[in-house]
Amino acid sequence: MGVVEFEDVFVKYETYTGSVLALRGVTFSLGKGETILVMGPSGSGKTTILRVILGLVQPMHGTVRVFGMEPRDGKTGLEIRRRAGYLTQEGKMINELTVWENIMFYAEGRGRRVDEERVRELARELNVEAVLNKHPNHLSGGELKRAELVMVLSDEPELLLLDEPTSMLDAENSEVVIDLLSTFKGRVPMIVTSHDPRLFEISDRVLEVVGGVVGKSLRETAPSPRRDSHLER
Ligand SMILES: Nc1ncnc2c1ncn2[C@@H]1O[C@H](COP(=O)(O)OP(=O)(O)OP(=O)(O)O)[C@@H](O)[C@H]1O
Ligand SMILES: [Mg+2]
Repeated sequence: MGVVEFEDVFVKYETYTGSVLALRGVTFSLGKGETILVMGPSGSGKTTILRVILGLVQPMHGTVRVFGMEPRDGKTGLEIRRRAGYLTQEGKMINELTVWENIMFYAEGRGRRVDEERVRELARELNVEAVLNKHPNHLSGGELKRAELVMVLSDEPELLLLDEPTSMLDAENSEVVIDLLSTFKGRVPMIVTSHDPRLFEISDRVLEVVGGVVGKSLRETAPSPRRDSHLER
């Protein structure tokens, strides 16, 4: 059994102007220690897949299992959110607290322990040690992204869901992030969404999502690093 299993998942969002079918029959499974890269155009459903895993959005059809549980009721959803580390696309730190306080508050709220030395080590590796005592709204977009990543990685999650971890970053800092993520690869199962082909390096498989459908090019074998010809089709 996979850590994450989707079987024919459909998601519909209701809006003022009508409904949007964001996922249309998505089926995949994330194995223990596996890293999946989810790619696809803007609006194709990448973030929605992560939100379904966390029980933040309920499918209208299909089954989802995460750690063997259905993220349906509040209780299983909460347990999954406690065990998984979720890097959101837009950030979730509270501006009234410093980055350091946010990291402590985040772990505490999840009922998890955080090793302060480990936080400093992660911050050092991501070149954001100097911002730990600053408030999130005083950081640049790239600093905030890396600080959020320190927070998400710091309490040893059992599953990593990373929504565009290298967006807002320059080439050098993207490499730093990818290097750090490679140290989690194999130890912690990961789903990473991105438009960044450099993340191929750490992925076992690529899911291509287009219009809420996982494309036929679902790769069962590891793509070779930086080979991105299928994206240029
Ligand atoms: N809360 C919501 N309410 C209504 N529609 C939504 C909501 N969230 C997403 N959508 C719609 O669902 C579709 C999929 O959105 P999603 O955010 O999953 O895409 P994405 O692949 O993550 O895009 P991006 O690369 O821009 O982050 C889009 O058409 C989007 O407009
Ligand atoms: Mg998104």
